[in-house]
Amino acid sequence: MPQPEQLPRNHDMYPTARSRRARLWRLKLWLQFTGWLQYLITTSVAIVFLVVSAAGWLIGTWQPLLFWLPLAIGLLLLAAAIFDVITVKWGVRPTEPLPQRRDDLDTFDLIRARRSCHSFQSRDLTATDGAELMQAVNEYTRHDRLIGAGPIRLEYVAAPLTIWPGVGAHEFLVAIAPHDYDRLALVDVGRSLQKVVLQATRMGAGTCWIGPGADQSSVVKHLGNRFDPEKDHVVCVCAVGYRSRFTPLSVRAMERVMHRRLPLKSLFFSDPHCEVPLAVDVAPLSSFGRCYEVCQWSPSSYNAQTTRCAAVTELVGGEHKVVRFDFHTTTTSRFYAPVALGIWCANWETGCDTLGIPGNFAVLPADARGVGDVPELPHYDMSWIADPEK
Ligand SMILES: Cc1cc2nc3c(=O)[nH]c(=O)nc-3n(C[C@H](O)[C@H](O)[C@H](O)COP(=O)(O)O)c2cc1C
Repeated sequence: MPQPEQLPRNHDMYPTARSRRARLWRLKLWLQFTGWLQYLITTSVAIVFLVVSAAGWLIGTWQPLLFWLPLAIGLLLLAAAIFDVITVKWGVRPTEPLPQRRDDLDTFDLIRARRSCHSFQSRDLTATDGAELMQAVNEYTRHDRLIGAGPIRLEYVAAPLTIWPGVGAHEFLVAIAPHDYDRLALVDVGRSLQKVVLQATRMGAGTCWIGPGADQSSVVKHLGNRFDPEKDHVVCVCAVGYRSRFTPLSVRAMERVMHRRLPLKSLFFSDPHCEVPLAVDVAPLSSFGRCYEVCQWSPSSYNAQTTRCAAVTELVGGEHKVVRFDFHTTTTSRFYAPVALGIWCANWETGCDTLGIPGNFAVLPADARGVGDVPELPHYDMSWIADPEK
């Protein structure tokens, strides 16, 4: 029996469950960031069906169900994986047309038309679209347009950054906030970048917010001297380009699962603790029309849907009037929850502007909100205050 000090230093000689898990994790990351995992998922499911069909063949009974059906599904999935590798990974596919602009859509339909794009054409943004995008970037990151004081930037990077699970993305906006934690700057990142995303949607371009799926080192490498590790923090990136019809099957399945939303009654409330659902279709709240819906369809990391909103009304001359809406987050997430809340703010105020309802954002202290003991969750971040003067 070796004494503790005589145990081999090289732990790989006796792989523990933990080191095996670590190696599997590294393999997963490698497959993920070399862009093979998308195809391996489909292939693995195909193999499972083929194994079931082989077992069904050995059993020899119920052949249509135990042999032919899994065989057919397995072969179809295998064919889909091969097709995806050829058309998407190796790029052997016809040139796709430029998408149409979406100027025909009203603002609410435009916000609803946005959905994450996980497969991009290999062509670059046209010079006109690129210029329009950068004009929106400059406009929405202007200091006087931000809620907070912390500077934020959206840096354009033309490079195939390492991301997951999207494919073909080669143009990005990198959202940068101050190095020292500044929650309001993160809300501003969400609000400003979402407005740029809406402009890109108007141009007919596809976009995808990427936070946990972006390899930070690859982002920082491509930013070069535009990134100062002492002052800057990369919050997330947003891929921009033209949507491709060729999307790996596994990514298509993921998109379907992720593009679902909680009902309005789970998102909008009439009390500060976010417990009593808001009657959004009763006056005066009904005057905000589709503003609720466009918040509901805001994107969030992993579709976690961490934002909630509490309306505050008051009785003036026997009539209920909307005073403000308080935006909260439901988790202690320090980065992606405030970003998601900022995206809600962008969609909310874009909707209000469209309806001609005046108001502005402000952070109110607890006593100004009439809240006594402040619970940790839901975490209050921001109010949209109706402007009765206008
Ligand atoms: C802050 C943030 C980070 C995100 N990170 C990723 C990511 O790393 N990879 C990815 O494919 N999608 C990412 N998404 C996109 C969400 O998964 C997507 O918005 C959500 O599933 C809802 O789908 P939809 O955008 O099609 O409505 C992110 C979205 C946000 C807002």
